[in-house]
Amino acid sequence: MLNNACWITSPRDAGVAVYRYQKSFALRNKPLKKATLQASAIGVYTAELNGARIGNAVLTPGWTSYKHRIQVQTYDVTGMLRAGENLLSFGIGQGWAVGCIGYGHDNHYTADHVSLIAALTLTYADGTADTVATAPGWDVLTTPVLSTDIYMGETVDQTAPVEPVGKAVQDTVKTRLIPQVGEWITEHERIAPIAVLRTPKNELVIDFGQNMTGYVEVRIHAPRGSRIVMHHGEVLDRDGNFYNANYRSAKNENIYICSGEEDVFKPSYTFQGFRYIRLTEYPFDVADPAAFRAIAVHSDMKRTGHFLCGNEKINQLYHNIIWGQKSNYLDIPTDCPQRDERLGWTGDTQVFCRTGAINYDTSRFFRKWMGDVALEQTPEGAVKGVVPAALKNGDTRISAAWGDAACVVPWELYLAYGNKADLKRNLPVMKKWVEYMHSTGPAEFLWLGGMHYGDWLAMDAGEDSYVGATSNDLIASAFFAYSTSLLVKAGEALGEDMTEYRTLYRNVRAAFRDYFMENGMPKAEFPLTEVTVRKHETVDSVRRGMTQTALTLILHFDLCEETERPALAAKLVELIREAGNRMTTGFVGTPYLLHALSENGYSDVAYTLLMQEQNPSWLYSVCHGATTMWEHWNSIKEDGSFWSTNMNSFNHYAYGSVFDWIFGVACGIKTDPNAPGYRHINIAPHPDRCLGFADTSIDTAYGTVRVHWYYKGDRVAYEIEIPQGTTATLTLPNRPPVELQAGSWMF
Ligand code: BGC
Repeated sequence: MLNNACWITSPRDAGVAVYRYQKSFALRNKPLKKATLQASAIGVYTAELNGARIGNAVLTPGWTSYKHRIQVQTYDVTGMLRAGENLLSFGIGQGWAVGCIGYGHDNHYTADHVSLIAALTLTYADGTADTVATAPGWDVLTTPVLSTDIYMGETVDQTAPVEPVGKAVQDTVKTRLIPQVGEWITEHERIAPIAVLRTPKNELVIDFGQNMTGYVEVRIHAPRGSRIVMHHGEVLDRDGNFYNANYRSAKNENIYICSGEEDVFKPSYTFQGFRYIRLTEYPFDVADPAAFRAIAVHSDMKRTGHFLCGNEKINQLYHNIIWGQKSNYLDIPTDCPQRDERLGWTGDTQVFCRTGAINYDTSRFFRKWMGDVALEQTPEGAVKGVVPAALKNGDTRISAAWGDAACVVPWELYLAYGNKADLKRNLPVMKKWVEYMHSTGPAEFLWLGGMHYGDWLAMDAGEDSYVGATSNDLIASAFFAYSTSLLVKAGEALGEDMTEYRTLYRNVRAAFRDYFMENGMPKAEFPLTEVTVRKHETVDSVRRGMTQTALTLILHFDLCEETERPALAAKLVELIREAGNRMTTGFVGTPYLLHALSENGYSDVAYTLLMQEQNPSWLYSVCHGATTMWEHWNSIKEDGSFWSTNMNSFNHYAYGSVFDWIFGVACGIKTDPNAPGYRHINIAPHPDRCLGFADTSIDTAYGTVRVHWYYKGDRVAYEIEIPQGTTATLTLPNRPPVELQAGSWMF
């Protein structure tokens, strides 16, 4: 790959952020068969041939564990060449590799300057070929991009002269070049403003009606030198004023300086998370909405899942879940797209990945990310809080429910797509993670102590605590058992001998029951054993076992005996009732809570939680105007104030994982783990009048699976579609299971 090309960089700093690296070359005077460009960069690059943009991807080469590998993009540019002289050029912004990444502006995480590598191969009809490859001596010029940074935004000055900087110099980059593995990042919806506002503070604000990830394009004809300064925000404050204090140090500031001609501005090397923009400076007193378009940017995954029901609020929740995913599946699965994080938090990723794989075909997306997980896993098997690495050691932890992404993600992908090659590639990662937990000591079959994120943002340790009340030891040991069980299943699916891990699983499960439970119930309290907690995390010295999250994990991870289930489930329901028919769970308990209820005969209570509108609940944010998922149940409080400024994202998809209950239980579509990828489908809908009807489908490799249920008087009617090449087992409420062949069925 990239024959004869070498890494190059600018010979000097000429005071701009982005330089143009260019090379002119002549086509030979004979028929050209094919022209292929391969390129990559430390930073993010744009490529042009004869002034026209190459390809439709943005933010290339994407974000991988740069230290280990960088993707190379390949473009067919045959149609872009012209007879005689041609000009190949590149711009490179700092991107994730060089710019601000992580808390507190950890600049230059990978490198302290950008570099480029590229090769254009010209293949002629007579079989000969020429290569135009990056080498010292390429021309380097300034560009109008004066500053650019993922968190900070971009400044483009169309009045700035383009000046020669000198000749490119050779650079040394130590990493492995690999072909593009993930999906391309591309532009998607173009959204027109729904309103142009003058806020009470007399600021000019544009509302695009949808919180999203991407950037705003402005078309403007304004006097030369006039400035557009644009800030981004997700919500207005309770007085209706522009607000973005929750972005923390990430400025999200785009500045455009007009040429005096018609200009079209949008950033080329960064992106923002926003619904609103404030025109902090603007050449005119009014803003014409026609001049602005918000462009959604995300990984180009194929949409596979669809859902509609008779309840508008639940439909809005689903809309918010979809937009949460679009906003956060931008090359890597991120926590949020706006503040100074946008990191591949492993916990958020594993929580949402089942829902993610229903909504979109995420197989390629996760093939790439799991590759980085594998590369960054420590020799001991630890998987850190964020992948690709972007935080200093003290800022990331080896935490239960985060590191477990190592087992949960491969297993969920296998269920969704049935791809054994992917599972096989990830099996060593799963094993190493389980071995890591096994080695944590002091008890062989438990994970006690350590630094965890715990039941992050749960509500049962006081409203302002970042961590819930559930014992971290209990959570960590429950996940030790769960991940080991997934490893056993994965190994068995691949035909491996899993005797050793089956024994380990039995031991962990027994140790868990012994240490954390008595008389079939979790014990009430445990001592705090964490090494340290961050200062903003309020953690009581006593950690609890009798919580909604603990009961949920015990039930859903099968850490109880069958005979113990009724009492455990009844206790869970009792705690939910005591909390006013509400949950108190955070990142760890919430994804499984409704499953734990329905699996134990309490679908009615699961529906009560789903339909709850009081905080904490899924519909609380919907009732408060959300268009994406919020980080906190009550990111905006009842009185209109904000939960906090420093941890309050309005585009955090984790709680959107509730859709895998809506899809898998309320609508009732689940793949059979023994015939994954929906080759055999278990269909078991749990209809409820509160939804009116539910109509959901997923496009699988075999075709579309669809379940539609609705009420006909007192009766529930079902329409079911099973694609060719698959079979299904249908279990309707209070009826024995029946086997279905491919086709359309009505009951
Ligand atoms: C992120 C989370 C993440 C967490 C770890 C936060 O700052 O936004 O979503 O999982 O840190 O506790």
